[in-house]
Amino acid sequence: MNDKDIWIQGSDVDRKTIEEYMKDREQGTILSELPSFLYLMMQYRCAIREMESKLDVLNDEFSLRHERNPFESIESRVKKPRSIIEKMRRKGFELTVENIEEKLTDVAGNRVICSFVEDIYYLADMLSAQDDLKVLEVKDYIKNPKPNGYRSLHLIIQIPIYLSDQKKYMRVEVQFRTIAMDFWASVDHKLKYKKNVANPEMIVEELRKCADVISSVDQRMQEIRNMIEAEEIADEKADRE
Ligand code: GTP
Ligand code: MG
Repeated sequence: MNDKDIWIQGSDVDRKTIEEYMKDREQGTILSELPSFLYLMMQYRCAIREMESKLDVLNDEFSLRHERNPFESIESRVKKPRSIIEKMRRKGFELTVENIEEKLTDVAGNRVICSFVEDIYYLADMLSAQDDLKVLEVKDYIKNPKPNGYRSLHLIIQIPIYLSDQKKYMRVEVQFRTIAMDFWASVDHKLKYKKNVANPEMIVEELRKCADVISSVDQRMQEIRNMIEAEEIADEKADRE
């Protein structure tokens, strides 16, 4: 298959992705590598779709049994070519398509936003128990927050995708957060772009304090949820007797 075929056939391929990748590569190497780069990105897109579907199944089942959803929303993304290239350079890896797949674990990402902390562990446990998935790494920044206050549960999961001629395992980074943790992380992310502040230490300290407040709110919300659930169970029991 030549490059022209890929351009024509890749109807769902983001044209900007290709343009960005081409801009960042020295001419010469582009044409031979572009088809395999696009093929790899397509595989990562399939992997995040498969993961979303697994989470949707858990959500549907849980909501029938418990009359509420264990997560509020999922955001999924495949890393932009620009960010892939930057990260490969930063880590000192030679920029080849093979290396992108071998060295980076976060090219594909799902972010699952939950209302309650316990739902995060419920979903992570349910996924971990599925026998076609393999959890390669767990980073629990909820039990062990980063020094700046960042909290989330990160799992690197290997998930199979089925192509025309093969079954292939892809690595996906799944981040689980509460709505409150997501609020903090998105504000933190926005503030990272604001460089020349007068007192950066004070800002860092303030952000960390906000993260602690948010964490205690999450705990209290969980306690409220547990109280309501305990009452519901007691009511049901009373109805049966
Ligand atoms: P990266 O090289 O950034 O991928 O770090 P890592 O490989 O050590 O992974 P880590 O699990 O620490 O972070 C991966 C992802 O978590 C990042 O790409 C962000 O989406 C998110 N994250 C981690 N730390 C922070 C943080 O301090 N603030 C915010 N807003 N997001 C963070
Ligand atoms: Mg990472």
